[in-house]
Amino acid sequence: MTANVYRFPVQVLFGEGCVRELGAPLATFGKHALLVTGEGPTSRSPAVSVLGSLLEEKGIALSHFHEVRSDPDIETVQRGAAFARERGCDFVIGLGGGSPMDAAKIIGALLANDGDPASWEGVGRVPRRSRPLICIPTTAGTGSEVTSVAVITGGKRRQKMSIVSQNIYPILAAIDPELTYSMPPALTASTGMDALTHAVESYVARRAWEPTRALSLKAVQLIFASLEKACGDGSDAEARRNMCMGSFLAGMAFTSSGLGLSHALAHALGSHCGMAHGVANAILLPHVMRFNLDSCPELYRDVAAAMGLDVSGLPARRAAEAAADAVEELGGALPVPSSLREAGVLEASVETLAAEAFLNTRLRSSNPRDTVLEDLVAVLRAAL
Ligand SMILES: [Fe+2]
Repeated sequence: MTANVYRFPVQVLFGEGCVRELGAPLATFGKHALLVTGEGPTSRSPAVSVLGSLLEEKGIALSHFHEVRSDPDIETVQRGAAFARERGCDFVIGLGGGSPMDAAKIIGALLANDGDPASWEGVGRVPRRSRPLICIPTTAGTGSEVTSVAVITGGKRRQKMSIVSQNIYPILAAIDPELTYSMPPALTASTGMDALTHAVESYVARRAWEPTRALSLKAVQLIFASLEKACGDGSDAEARRNMCMGSFLAGMAFTSSGLGLSHALAHALGSHCGMAHGVANAILLPHVMRFNLDSCPELYRDVAAAMGLDVSGLPARRAAEAAADAVEELGGALPVPSSLREAGVLEASVETLAAEAFLNTRLRSSNPRDTVLEDLVAVLRAAL
């Protein structure tokens, strides 16, 4: 028997205004920080000026790389690493959604390792520990601030590659719900549905076990109770806090348990159709749950109960179906497309998308039900 393992090396600060408490911890990492952000509004986020003042107070220089777009590619992270080397940066701060934080992870890894990040695709291929990395999320979805995963576009097929390594964990994460208050409803919805997908997929994943399942289930409960409220009123402090907590807990779960078929398909939709990751998961999750439910109906019954559905008298299979229906209903109430067709996917693309997702052995292998190529075609067709 192989031992179950739970490892979690990230120090986490959580709470409204916690970014303002980062001065002392940041002073322990070096004399020159590289700040990595998106090129849009996050590059002018109030958190950028707060960080600037904190670093100045501590006598730490700051260089700002603000060229990260959605789904960052290898060329961008290489440019970021060259910029950091030129400036003499000794640690990295990633601020924003999943894209800037993932880019910051790989830039930090490039500062400590030679080689092409494309050769790091897969598990355990980053040779040495990256430079100290601090992650500050401004969305509640990706969980990247507490995971050993970075998704970068590149390679021969220009696909989304998952780089998974203990050597790219952030050393510190500051999760400040106030930074998410300005997210518009559509971004709140898509990133929140990504977090819900992390919570559900990590709960039923093959490598899930007691500690990861406890985290996943609490995340399902918080996200399901709060996502619609956070979309309806962005200044609802309790809903924003619950979403940040749910996203964080789901990240802590899936970094050990892995994810599943929804993520394999979402990566293919991102690579081929440019679909936002959270939108893809929002559309796919109920269909993937229906595909999987016979392989672990009791687990999906737990998910239904965590969502607050009254499933006490139902057989496990009925409860599992109710969980999938509730996810579909939630998606329908949010400002996200409810089908792949509505999101611009053509039926003619289904075979190509299924073939691309089928290559994603890591995500498929953690899915609770075995899959063949035709299964992926069928799930995509159901989601059309
Ligand atoms: Fe995700």
